Amino acid sequence: MLTIEPGNTTLGATVTGVDLEQPLSDADLAILLRALGEYGVLCFSKQLIEAQALKEFSSRFGALQMISRLADANVPEVSILSNVIENGRPIGTPDAGQDWHTDMTYNRVVGFVNVLVAHRVPMRDGKPLGGTEFTNTQAAYDDLPADVKAKLANATALHDHNYFQEKMRAKGSTRPPQTDAQRRERPPVPHPVFLTHPISGRKVIYVNPGFTVRINELAPAESSEMLAYLFAHVLQPKYRHTHHWTVGDVLMWDHLGTWHCALADYRPDEFRLMKRCQVMADKVFDAGFLQGVFHGGVAA
Ligand code: SIN
Repeated sequence: MLTIEPGNTTLGATVTGVDLEQPLSDADLAILLRALGEYGVLCFSKQLIEAQALKEFSSRFGALQMISRLADANVPEVSILSNVIENGRPIGTPDAGQDWHTDMTYNRVVGFVNVLVAHRVPMRDGKPLGGTEFTNTQAAYDDLPADVKAKLANATALHDHNYFQEKMRAKGSTRPPQTDAQRRERPPVPHPVFLTHPISGRKVIYVNPGFTVRINELAPAESSEMLAYLFAHVLQPKYRHTHHWTVGDVLMWDHLGTWHCALADYRPDEFRLMKRCQVMADKVFDAGFLQGVFHGGVAA
């Protein structure tokens, strides 16, 4: 039987009693969706699943992002995050997510869930490196002062894909700058500053340091000041949780109620390899889908 055991920090729970190589039942899908809304980060241990099983499990939660490069050779929905070099060529993206952000807020249809499988974890002195840190944006919203909640109740913010790329390049990433055509393909998009989480029904702070460039309804200086305030508020230690990886961990997390940051605390010769599916928030914002999952049968 699938069981959820909450951890002892603001986010995180361990899931047992499910085999991710097997099709996920509708009842287990409902339990996992509720747990994502409540605990944000779910860990399944000792499940070193391969790309096809990862794809099938992840696609129960929404449409999958297609990756054109640095993907699994047979399953293009599965991307490889890794610093491993084979035959002189990188087999994955080496520095993915090494700054605070939440995925795909630069898209009209934003990210819902990341599912990562740990194939290689760098170790030093018997300790795992390359952990993933999270912060809880639902709890952080609850604690905001009433005047900030009121001021930004109906505000929107712009999210820009290029902004994160440029930040990573400034920190030494070898990613090439985006071309004008790439920038035109992905213009900045607006989202509410405070979003209602479709599963928990709670408000979240839905701006993030990776992609949010401004609050539309505020003058530029006030927008920068407010974003700096919100970022510092969300990053307080009381909202944070770190996952230290073990090979065979499958970690899934809810992008809508968290931010994350991959810790860059290992050397190029200490190898990390994660396989990832990125699930879009198409189904989760469809009331019919959640109604079906929670109160009746659900179509896959
Ligand atoms: C990501 O930002 O999606 C990657 C996180 C990680 O590799 O830990």
